[in-house]
Amino acid sequence: MSGRGSKRYSIAAAAMQVAIGLTIAGCSAKEHPMTTLAPKSDLAQWINSLFIEVTAWDAIILAIVVFAFILAVFVFSSRVGEAAPASAATSDLGLEIAWTLGPTLVLVMISVPTIRTIFRSQPAVAPAGALEIKVVAHQWWWEFAYPDGAKTSNELHIPANRPIRLSLESGDIIHSFWVPQLGGKRDVVPGQINELTFIATAPGMYPGQCAEFCGLSHANMRFRVFVDSPDDFAKWDRAQLAGPAAIPATDLLASNGAKLFANSPCTTCHMIQGVSKGYIGPDLTHFASRTTLAAGVLKNTPENVAKWIGKPQETKPGANMPALLLPGPKMDALVAYLESLK
Ligand code: CUA
Repeated sequence: MSGRGSKRYSIAAAAMQVAIGLTIAGCSAKEHPMTTLAPKSDLAQWINSLFIEVTAWDAIILAIVVFAFILAVFVFSSRVGEAAPASAATSDLGLEIAWTLGPTLVLVMISVPTIRTIFRSQPAVAPAGALEIKVVAHQWWWEFAYPDGAKTSNELHIPANRPIRLSLESGDIIHSFWVPQLGGKRDVVPGQINELTFIATAPGMYPGQCAEFCGLSHANMRFRVFVDSPDDFAKWDRAQLAGPAAIPATDLLASNGAKLFANSPCTTCHMIQGVSKGYIGPDLTHFASRTTLAAGVLKNTPENVAKWIGKPQETKPGANMPALLLPGPKMDALVAYLESLK
């Protein structure tokens, strides 16, 4: 008896812990989930309001239909053994008008707010004072280029409370740019520039994801959007515009790594300002300032950098990055150099 009671108690306690855990996770300011139901931009807010409005109309229609169904089954139907009521009418004009107008009204209620949101959220020209950023989608990473010349990959920084205008281009095939809390999906189509305009309202980190199947590592085509305060954004932007961080004379490992990089095949694809001019892969000038690598798949730690360089296919099947087979000490030096590029 007491055994069963304590088991029930422990199940209840576990359920309570899960509920508390979920509540804390939901409330945490740092952990922004990939949800469209907690909008953090004007665009996402409009889409969420539209979703709620249409769902509310649908709920009202559902309630009316269920109510009419119950009436038909339980009130206006004939009982067993009872003769069905005879009707002399062959048509009912009132009824015909009602079921022509009813669905029309439903379509109007749904289409008017939808069309209004489409026009509101897709201005033909960038709003005044907008920060215009070029986004290029590649298999499988994202390139972000700022009007002042700053360039980064897979981690977009934007200032809060300022209009942002992204022009989305593809370097190869169709992708789709999607940050659930900041706005709707926008396809990235080769040979065409699509725009996405929004104002992020709350600083924080928002995870994004390519939302159009684009090959083997489509699911590994992630990215992050950092919404910074205007001061933090200005600071980040200044740091990105500067050349690569100088390697301290005492850091022999990183210095050796720098020499190794300059003479490696990495230079064919990767740019490091003043060192190499590759443009096929991400710009590495400020690689160490990014929190992740391989398009948001791995945390940016020395172990992960070595893992990525040595066996990229393990992390991202199909990636164009060739494996660089380096003996341990050389790999350590290369990783130390890359991790010095703040
Ligand atoms: Cu790019 Cu899916």
